[in-house]
Amino acid sequence: MPNVAVIGSQWGDEGKGKIVDWLSKKADVIVRFQGGHNAGHTLVVNNITYKLKLLPSGIIRKNKISIIGNGVVIDPWALLDEIKQIEKLGIKITKKNLYIAENATLILPLHKELDGIREDSKSTEKIGTTRRGIGPAYEDKVGRRGIRLMDLTSKKNLSNRIDMILFHHDSIRKGLGKDKINKKKLIKDLLKISPKILKYSQPVWKKIEQLKKKNKTILFEGAQGVLLDIDHGTYPFVTSSNTVVGAAYTGTGCGSNTIDYILGIVKAYTTRVGEGPFPTELRNKIGKIIGEKGNEFGTVTNRKRRCGWFDAVLVKQSCIVSGINGIALTKIDVLDQFKDLYVCIGYKLNGKKIDYLPAALTDQFKLKPIYKRLNGWLENTKGIKQWKNLPKNAKNYVNFIKKYCGVKISSISTSPRREDTILLKNPFKKI
Ligand code: GDP
Ligand code: IMO
Ligand code: MG
Repeated sequence: MPNVAVIGSQWGDEGKGKIVDWLSKKADVIVRFQGGHNAGHTLVVNNITYKLKLLPSGIIRKNKISIIGNGVVIDPWALLDEIKQIEKLGIKITKKNLYIAENATLILPLHKELDGIREDSKSTEKIGTTRRGIGPAYEDKVGRRGIRLMDLTSKKNLSNRIDMILFHHDSIRKGLGKDKINKKKLIKDLLKISPKILKYSQPVWKKIEQLKKKNKTILFEGAQGVLLDIDHGTYPFVTSSNTVVGAAYTGTGCGSNTIDYILGIVKAYTTRVGEGPFPTELRNKIGKIIGEKGNEFGTVTNRKRRCGWFDAVLVKQSCIVSGINGIALTKIDVLDQFKDLYVCIGYKLNGKKIDYLPAALTDQFKLKPIYKRLNGWLENTKGIKQWKNLPKNAKNYVNFIKKYCGVKISSISTSPRREDTILLKNPFKKI
């Protein structure tokens, strides 16, 4: 069976968790490849709600292998806490069903602290990060001073690596008027938890190669979304990793021949958490209704998500830059009560029409959406499981998105629950 990658195609929170869980019935292996515990993926199964941050969404199913790839930044304390929380819900997590890349970079308390200092500073622009230390950890990875999981295997090596990272961070902290990091304590704290986390450590690229040879089906689970991609998103209001499908290769070492189908998860309207441009944002009653009906509160930080009309220009661009083969459209039930629906099909920028997201942030803030009005359906779609049962205007809405983006619709989700999903094209069937 083909291997599938699931990619968020807007500003995150498109419903990736629900779709990965639904698809993982057919997969043997579920792999996270970028991001960290800034992600919050929600699954609703048999009336139990699971909120996963670092653990792949396949973890709740029996007899599946979950992998955290080298592209993920791991806060070891947060991971152990998440394992504990999920185990409380009756899920067993052992070294047999969870592998973590030995070369994954760790998030340390100093990263989290720095993230918070920057967000609170009056001298820099607030990004509205999740304050989990994601940005600072990726910066250290690229700066070649990151601490990686396997560094925990030797105290001497760890001490050397920490000297390197502290050389950098203590200088910054001095400039910020903060105390030096207590090296002894940091080493002690890391060594205390290291056996609990090292037990999952593996050369993940090798494990994936073995699983491929055994013809196991692999599902790659993206975090965030293409518009938060460090290169392709609304920079600097983005996360610090690539979120496009290319990250699945670099973030696991699986080889470029591994992924056969790229599934873009797309919400039927648009949301964003944190600061940054959002051309179709509705700062009015309609935005409020969408937020309430869609329960748009951040899974990780509980912040209110900003809501707006569907931006087809951005989704089409995401489909192109991430090579998306099919769309899993989610949350159409949230639009049930609107008589008129608007879809952004272009922008006006300085009096000119454009059909893409300009790279300059100043231009992104100036974009005036050009809308196409579509008729709403004013009927309940929640829980519908078959295309034929959707109201005519809902079908028109879906078809409009398909036509504008030039990408087939693979499935439509009609509630948070696993089973409330309309299947149109099975990504695991031959393409
Ligand atoms: P992710 O980060 O992409 O996994 O998405 P989140 O879990 O952060 O946010 C999506 C929210 O929408 C969660 O609360 C899901 O339970 C919910 N959800 C997913 N699909 C649907 C749907 O089709 N309809 C409704 N009403 N809610 C959905
Ligand atoms: P999932 O996987 C939505 C946003 C933050 C902020 C920006 C940078 O659940 O879709 P960071 O902490 O990554 O440095 O924050 O990115 N952000 C997300 N927004 N869903 C996410 O993940 C997000 N992960 C980060 O709100 O605007
Ligand atoms: Mg989320």
